Amino acid sequence: MKNQADNLIHLVDEKRKTNDVFMKNSNVQIYTVASGKGGVGKTNIVVSLAISLQRAGKKVLVMDADLGLANVDILLGISPKLTLYDVMFKGRKIEDAIFEGPEGIKIIPGGSGILELSKMDVMEKRSFINQFKMLNGFDIILIDTGAGISMNQLSFITFSDEVILVTTPEPTAITDVYSVIKIISSLKLNRKINIVVNRVKDEKDALNTFNKLNETTTRFLGIELKQYGFVADDIRVNTSVMNQVPFIIKYPNCLASQCIDNLAKDIINNRKNKIKVKTMDEFYNRLLKVFG
Ligand SMILES: Nc1ncnc2c1ncn2[C@@H]1O[C@H](COP(=O)(O)OP(=O)(O)OP(=O)(O)O)[C@@H](O)[C@H]1O
Ligand SMILES: [Mg+2]
Repeated sequence: MKNQADNLIHLVDEKRKTNDVFMKNSNVQIYTVASGKGGVGKTNIVVSLAISLQRAGKKVLVMDADLGLANVDILLGISPKLTLYDVMFKGRKIEDAIFEGPEGIKIIPGGSGILELSKMDVMEKRSFINQFKMLNGFDIILIDTGAGISMNQLSFITFSDEVILVTTPEPTAITDVYSVIKIISSLKLNRKINIVVNRVKDEKDALNTFNKLNETTTRFLGIELKQYGFVADDIRVNTSVMNQVPFIIKYPNCLASQCIDNLAKDIINNRKNKIKVKTMDEFYNRLLKVFG
């Protein structure tokens, strides 16, 4: 009798502990960073923004969901040996596919795994969800995607809390980002669309670009955009790419870095306004709902 009671108490205790872990991690905010045109600066922004947010005391996970070329690891000069694919199909632990980036940020390369979610059988899914449950304690997840609007990007946008679209002031980049907004709006997702204008000459250049875009989407799509800061065109970004060191580390006080710090502040303030109850479990479930 005593043994049975002990076992029950132990079980309840274990369950409570598990719940406690999830409660502590109850406000993960997921942002997908996308664009219309390629090469507008998504990966550079994601990496430096992650570091800036981490410096501000947030725990950040970057997910490289660009299925084409590995992006994030090249900018950081690291070469991950495992991706989510190995966790899904090769029985590897999720911890082995999470890489420690600079200043404590964590990076998870999606690899081809993302596209294969729907191909997993029940056992593989179960083992994968168990792996995901081990991931805890993140405040913000930034998902870096490739250019354009494939099923993959759309799935990530559906799955995240907010989307950050990056454009430059170039007319071609604006036209392309408009097409992306049009597609997102047709899905009636009710996601907030935030715009970051990259490579601007000055604040006026950023405002002009944003206003032009916002007027068009408001008029033709009934969608009001939110300006989420801007990033200056800064030669030090190029130099940092060449050196495979994020610009926020190599030149913490350069114009582009200051812009990223402002963007991080915006994101943190925005988080305060609406804390969501979320767990890594829920993260996984959403992932499965969208891709599975
Ligand atoms: N603020 C900036 N100032 C100067 N150059 C920049 C800036 N942002 C990006 N660049 C340049 O643009 C290049 C492409 O940037 P990045 O790789 O971040 O774009 P991307 O949108 O992720 O591209 P892709 O669509 O291929 O994933 C960089 O290598 C850099 O040379
Ligand atoms: Mg990129």
